[in-house]
Amino acid sequence: MQELQDILVSEIANGVLTLTLNRPAAFNALRNQLLSELADTLDAAAINDDVKAVLVTGGDSVFAAGADIKEMASLDMVGVMNDIRPTYWKRIAAFPKPLIAAVNGYALGGGCELMMHCDIVIAGDNAQFGQPEINLGIIPGAGGTQRLIKAVGKSMAMQMVLSGAFISASQARDFGLISEVVIPERTIDRAREVASLIARKPPIAVRLAKEVLLKAFDTSLDSGLNLERKAFTLLAATEDRNEGIAAFTEKRKPNFKGK
Ligand code: CAA
Repeated sequence: MQELQDILVSEIANGVLTLTLNRPAAFNALRNQLLSELADTLDAAAINDDVKAVLVTGGDSVFAAGADIKEMASLDMVGVMNDIRPTYWKRIAAFPKPLIAAVNGYALGGGCELMMHCDIVIAGDNAQFGQPEINLGIIPGAGGTQRLIKAVGKSMAMQMVLSGAFISASQARDFGLISEVVIPERTIDRAREVASLIARKPPIAVRLAKEVLLKAFDTSLDSGLNLERKAFTLLAATEDRNEGIAAFTEKRKPNFKGK
């Protein structure tokens, strides 16, 4: 376990790297230090072949209560305009391997937005999700307006962003914001199971699947289908595709090598 200032970085286990947000006294508020550590760690994980998937969690009681309001308070308009934070968010969004979130407790503001940067979300039934920025006289600033509406649809996104009201884990699941709800004691283990399952799949296919799926959010059906066909074609050149088909035919488990 590597202990950075604001996050804990686990050893890689079964291809899964676990990152734990570690500012419990501030409800894991996402100050610049934390975001920069997250972006740096993900950049390193992106080029580490041993990392097949990354699990992000805030631990047992809170995911993250948003941007650090005390840090944000020192920025005027020009300060916000020149803020380094969007560069961290871009790096997190560009992480090419699967990102799985395990959410217990609050995922608010930037915390909800961080969660929406993740590809799969497992939540405890104690989780609450919200974009309460409106109560501070601002709006979501890390993709919340765009990603939330794509995840939950117009009416619920409007309700959450305009009123600042929170939704429960079961509502979040019903609206498609997250994929599973479990008891809080199981959240991290269940997310790790999902991450480990994905970590055993052929890495190049996983990476291209993530890229093509995410493209559906910001392209036409026609361009998305073209991209899918190109990725599908590219995969025909991989050893893992031959291995997957051979293993099926020979009725054995495949041994994927990421080649
Ligand atoms: N930033 C900085 N500190 C925070 C914080 C935040 N976002 N959220 C909580 N904390 C701190 C509190 O200041 C408090 O610290 P002290 O003990 O030193 O005072 C500690 O965490 C515990 O918080 P509370 O005493 O408020 O605990 P609570 O159980 O009564 O309430 C809460 C918990 C509902 C999460 C409440 O703290 C809260 O509403 N937090 C702010 C949520 C919010 O507005 N998030 C959006 C931030 S803006 C943003 O994220 C912009 C963006 O899109 C990028």
